[in-house]
Amino acid sequence: MALNIVIMAAGKGTRMRSSLPKVLHRLAGRPMLEHVVRRALSLKPTRLVVVVGHGAADVEAAMRATFPDAPWHFVLQAQQLGTGHAVQQALPALAAGGSTLILNGDVPLIEPATLDSLLATCAARDLALLTVDLDDPSGYGRVLRGAGGAVAAIVEHKDASEAQRAVREVYSGVMAAPTHLLAQWVNALRNDNAQREYYLTDVVAMAVSAGVPVHGVKAPTPLEVAGVNSPAQLAQLERAHQRAQADRLLEAGVRLADPARLDVRGELHCAADVEIDVNCIFEGVVSLGEGVRVGAHCVIKNARIAAGAVIHPFTHIEGGLQAQEVRVGEGALIGPFARLRPGAHLGREVHVGNFVEVKNSQIAAGAKANHLAYLGDASVGERVNFGAGSITANYDGANKHRTTIGADVHVGSNCVLIAPVTLGEGGTIGGGSTISKDTPPGQLTVARAKQLSIPGWKRPLKKP
Ligand code: UD1
Ligand code: CA
Repeated sequence: MALNIVIMAAGKGTRMRSSLPKVLHRLAGRPMLEHVVRRALSLKPTRLVVVVGHGAADVEAAMRATFPDAPWHFVLQAQQLGTGHAVQQALPALAAGGSTLILNGDVPLIEPATLDSLLATCAARDLALLTVDLDDPSGYGRVLRGAGGAVAAIVEHKDASEAQRAVREVYSGVMAAPTHLLAQWVNALRNDNAQREYYLTDVVAMAVSAGVPVHGVKAPTPLEVAGVNSPAQLAQLERAHQRAQADRLLEAGVRLADPARLDVRGELHCAADVEIDVNCIFEGVVSLGEGVRVGAHCVIKNARIAAGAVIHPFTHIEGGLQAQEVRVGEGALIGPFARLRPGAHLGREVHVGNFVEVKNSQIAAGAKANHLAYLGDASVGERVNFGAGSITANYDGANKHRTTIGADVHVGSNCVLIAPVTLGEGGTIGGGSTISKDTPPGQLTVARAKQLSIPGWKRPLKKP
């Protein structure tokens, strides 16, 4: 049976005071609408219809880029004449029959399980409304129940009497309805109300008078149906969402030094016995192997950290997608103050210390770069020791070139390796060398001016 999902996302979001369309403002690092779409797609809808208006082209482009294979239909609502009018615009895009689920683009944390139960209640036959009890219901549509508790209507705050405003059960903005009935009702809406808008919520009274059962399903938590209308509400929702994620990690056994000082902006997968100190931010997709410890103030994006690795404080790991993710091998020691950029692939027990930057480089097991170094576009063999202040000069001003360092090479301090260049296995590079030609295995190579001492030289004297 067809399942249509309509997401209303045309509103401007005036109270955000921003040129960015409201639904593209980020929660946990992703546009609010992306959260809604992700959850909608988990229900495998026949059609996914997004009603766009303000910033329509930007909203559509952002969503298509993130979910290229979704059953998209974007419909333009050029003027925002109300939620009922928004759904009217969506009607031609709906697959006939079955159910239609209506979601709000600015209610990002709705849970798929809640939507499932709403759809089961609707059963392509009845009208099902997701409601919630709020301590402060002001601004919301109130759910009016008649004798025996049956839902009779929704009245918008601005149209409600004092007595109606005292009702604490509000409509969340989410409903499921039989598609053919929804179409009839929405086409019959009128805008004779306080806001001169076509209220989608007026379909409730229509259903009641047509004898169609109307069910109010309570949302499990207010967080799931919390909407965002202002930066303050967005910040509040962000904190609540982060706290919920931290609680899930704690339950799974992750030891967080402070659940209030963790931000996960994407997916964080943790094996057993992971410890995370305060003020860490995880972005994209990050996995931490068994026993990994992450020190305070680390920012880690798109990375796989293998078991037993230790990420010391103030480390910045910024992986890209797929092969450009950052990989850290078992038992590796990273930081403090290290920087791993896209395509840094580190083997077991690699050490990368303070003020060391690694980009697009493979560093084999046991290699060490402990202080003040840059390894870019390099292949570094096992057990290499890369001295303090040494760098790969990988960029000639036009192109990038590779540096290959054989196993067991010892690069002294303050060396410049001018790529493309290969250092033979087991060789030693004298400190302060500028290496522009390949070096042989096993030998000492020194490329710097010879040291001189000048006998009898006198330091100039200060003029009287
Ligand atoms: C709506 C409900 C209210 C409910 C509340 C929950 C109606 C009439 N009222 O009120 O009962 O308690 O949500 O949050 O439905 N939108 C469009 N086009 C429009 C108007 C709105 O796409 O012409 C979109 C908005 O961008 C937003 C959503 O629909 O994503 C809700 O609109 P909003 O104006 O915020 O509705 P509320 O007045 O909050
Ligand atoms: Ca709203």
